[in-house]
Amino acid sequence: MSKFAWVTLATNDRYALGALVLAASLRRSNTKYSLHILYTDGVSASMKSQLFSIFNNSTKVNILDSNDSQNLALIGRPDLGITFTKLHCWRLIEYEKCVFLDADTLVIQNSNELFQHPEFAAAPDIGWPDLFNSGVFVFVPSKETYQKLVEFGTQHGSFDGGDQGLLNQYFSSWRTMNESHRLPFIYNVTPGSIYSYKAAWQLFGSQVKIIHFLGNSKPWNFQDPQQGQHWEYWRQIFDEDVAGNLSKDLVNFGQRKVDYF
Ligand code: UDP
Ligand code: GLC
Ligand code: MN
Repeated sequence: MSKFAWVTLATNDRYALGALVLAASLRRSNTKYSLHILYTDGVSASMKSQLFSIFNNSTKVNILDSNDSQNLALIGRPDLGITFTKLHCWRLIEYEKCVFLDADTLVIQNSNELFQHPEFAAAPDIGWPDLFNSGVFVFVPSKETYQKLVEFGTQHGSFDGGDQGLLNQYFSSWRTMNESHRLPFIYNVTPGSIYSYKAAWQLFGSQVKIIHFLGNSKPWNFQDPQQGQHWEYWRQIFDEDVAGNLSKDLVNFGQRKVDYF
């Protein structure tokens, strides 16, 4: 078994669709490392069989929830308390090192070199660049770190109600650590930044390796031709590599025109 793995999380069928497309994008990038999915009871049996066919390994985990509606309201995402479930990734001690990728990320170029970075490494968050975004991070599995994170979360909670607040508080020296801990922005590019700084996109766009569809609208619940090339690429992978194997009800999820929650 590979000592390195890409890890993602899905607690329901929608995010599992994202995880399937992410896994297909990793395969397309010819990565030599394993793909590992963390999933919960909320994922249906037919979706699980799809996940098991593309991920090399899987772990069923229980939901960890911040239950912090007050702070979640600050980021406008009442649904994200359960992102504490991500913490289970530190329990994957069968690997030497892993890269966690949110299920709403898409790998557009091979990124194997990420495994050369030490724990903890992540890219700046576009909302507050002195904090990191927790949609893409390099970590070293360790039961001790897992315990400490859970204890820290229980004692201090999270200033945004999700894992990003907790992890930024726990790895609070990230901002002043040396550059190996600060991943270049090309590994966690939010499509919105392309529109807010088109000139930079023109200069650096070809170097972008991982896209992150951060925010309320996700490619699997909102089809909008205005959203641009990365949304189209997500859909292309969905159509070509994923939809063919899905049962009809699951395909319908990914084909909704508009679906506000
Ligand atoms: N997630 C999940 N189920 C949920 C919400 C989140 O499995 O109901 C996982 C999934 O891997 C997702 C990550 O937690 O990508 C973080 O949530 P999201 O990407 O929606 O947050 P954003 O990046 O938009 O702030
Ligand atoms: C963020 C991150 C996401 C995280 C969420 C909650 O915006 O993109 O990965 O789960 O905040 O903390
Ligand atoms: Mn995300």
